[in-house]
Amino acid sequence: MSAPQRNILVSNALPYANGPIHLGHMLEHIQVDIWVRAMRMAGHEVHFVCADDAHGTSIMLRAEREGITPQALIARVWEEHTRDLRDFGIEHDHYSSTDSAANHALTNRIWNALKADGHTQARPVKQLYDPVKEMFLPDRFIKGECPNCHSKDQYGDACEVCGKTYGPTDLIQPYSVVSGATPIEKESLHFFVKLGDFEPMLKGWLAERRDAGGLQGEVVNKLQEWFTDGLRSWDVSRDAPYFGFEIPGETDKFFYVWVDAPIGYLATFKELCESGRKSGLSAADFDRFTLAGASDTEMVHFIGKDILYFHALFWPAMLYGAGLRTPTAVNVHGFLTVNGAKMSKSRGTFVNARTYLDYLDPDWLRYYFATLLGPTLADVDLDLKTFEERVNSHLVGKWVNLASRCAGFVHTFFHGKLAASLPAMEREKYDSASAKLSACARHYEARDYAAATRLIVEVADTANAYVAEKAPWALAKDESRREELHGVCTLALNYFRLLSIWLSPVVPTIAQRAHAFTGGPAARFADASAPLLGVHIHAFVPLTTRIDPKNIQAMIEASKESLRPAATTAPSATPPSATVKTQPASPNPESRIPNPGLISIDDFAKLDLRIGKVLACEFVEGSDKLLRIDLDAGELGQRQIFSGIRAAYDAPEKLIGRHVVFIANLAPRKMRFGVSQGMILCAGDGGADLFLLDVDTGAKAGMPVK
Ligand code: 2FM
Ligand code: ZN
Repeated sequence: MSAPQRNILVSNALPYANGPIHLGHMLEHIQVDIWVRAMRMAGHEVHFVCADDAHGTSIMLRAEREGITPQALIARVWEEHTRDLRDFGIEHDHYSSTDSAANHALTNRIWNALKADGHTQARPVKQLYDPVKEMFLPDRFIKGECPNCHSKDQYGDACEVCGKTYGPTDLIQPYSVVSGATPIEKESLHFFVKLGDFEPMLKGWLAERRDAGGLQGEVVNKLQEWFTDGLRSWDVSRDAPYFGFEIPGETDKFFYVWVDAPIGYLATFKELCESGRKSGLSAADFDRFTLAGASDTEMVHFIGKDILYFHALFWPAMLYGAGLRTPTAVNVHGFLTVNGAKMSKSRGTFVNARTYLDYLDPDWLRYYFATLLGPTLADVDLDLKTFEERVNSHLVGKWVNLASRCAGFVHTFFHGKLAASLPAMEREKYDSASAKLSACARHYEARDYAAATRLIVEVADTANAYVAEKAPWALAKDESRREELHGVCTLALNYFRLLSIWLSPVVPTIAQRAHAFTGGPAARFADASAPLLGVHIHAFVPLTTRIDPKNIQAMIEASKESLRPAATTAPSATPPSATVKTQPASPNPESRIPNPGLISIDDFAKLDLRIGKVLACEFVEGSDKLLRIDLDAGELGQRQIFSGIRAAYDAPEKLIGRHVVFIANLAPRKMRFGVSQGMILCAGDGGADLFLLDVDTGAKAGMPVK
């Protein structure tokens, strides 16, 4: 008996619009896409939405560095993201952006509702402020010395060396990663959501969802810890300059990106409902899925374990406070590692989705991930050797070959037609395999794809053993055994079709080719209950190939390459104490390494070191330390640089014409005398003890230094 139809709104974490989709994102997108496809094949109504998370300081600063508007940046990234996801077979009903009119309206609506019911408050907050850039600094944009273990260049929220968490004001010698300036403390009015108001509701929701299977046990245990000291109010505002939605009724106050990001799930769905693009879905359905008390519908989120706090605390509180439904389920997964370690740019294991697609078939990765994914928070490892072997053995060896070994006989001896019925023994085998595989529906629903694919492989092994035992190639030699041959091939191809149906959510593109070959419908799991009999099959064309390890290697090499250049426009800055020393200062978490004394090759690669030719050099009035230098930077044009080398070079005109080495991609620094557009490198400790680096004859202005 089939389960009653469920009506489910599904979403997964919105990727930030400040960088490409990589395989870490793909783990989640693949997980959720398999679930959506499986639930649809089980007969449920599923609406699947996602969007780009388009607001926040990082996006604002990145656009600035690229010299474009944030809107232009997010529009470009949206194109890239949607192309990558589509090419991986991720089948969203709608993929939007949080920077949309629908999201703006919904964010205001939720905020106004919270405010009207007294769940918000305003109070002044002291925060670190960059006096050069004239902006408040998020914790990740401040670095300095760890107050605990004294490691240098630690972020403003936690030390990566000793693990201690602290506030940015606790850092010793803090500096802004945006400009390098020493931050100052400044007070400003902030707006809060009083989470304490929702504590009883949240406790009830957690218990209820755990019991109903909407939250994993380990997730609930983790969430319980937050209640120990009572819930503190959540700071939901950010001061201008900020790329986001302005708080209604306030000036220069914006909603923190994490307010409007999850609201983007609903806004995207609203756009879908109102677009009329999906049959059976109209504007009225938005309320059906989102209002409090919507009991015949579900709202299911898929997220990574790093953003649990936002989805299982702030988000349900906001929804509840605004009279909206709380999530039915928040399904949490672990992180992706590659070859047993964190993805690494230097090893080439930090692979962008597009780079993967340039070399390998997306269904291969979908299959491999499926064999490892379960309903837990365990990390998933992409072991590249196992990936190759598993795809080659399971998909090609056990599944596709089943069809390739039998299809020819059906065309040669039976005009491409399957037998009209199966002998009793064969029919029994089919029914038994079909019954066994029907358990996959339950496994898919429970997000236990590892269990589903295990069953599929078991049945594939049974099918291959059957073909090996019956040896159709031998039967084909004996004219008197044609009927037997027909029965064997018909069962073998039905085994193949059965496997194709149950593999459809995982490898949709290859499965589609398989269905086209057998010519049978396969939109539902229910189609698998009866074998295809008496129908024509098409000529067999290879459905997929074996993975060539050279392609894996090429992808790794390309990942090293593609990430080397200063894509890499991450903010760079100089601590105030160092005028001529280079300083890795990217907030990009992937480039961080545990030993503060070492940098990775990726850190070094971020520096755009160039040869510059001094065109002009002069004292700076009002400064006894600086020289103003105009450099010919070749293809980069001209650069003005203020350099603290006056004590060592007191005859500036003598420097005209000489070549120097300078950092060309250092964020421009506004100084009292003008903007400095780079940094000239010197040896020495400072003061009069500074020595410009020499360049051999032949080097030209603008040449890169590596
Ligand atoms: O962590 C992230 O990548 C966020 N962009 C996820 C946002 S999910 C939701 F809240 F929008
Ligand atoms: Zn420390």
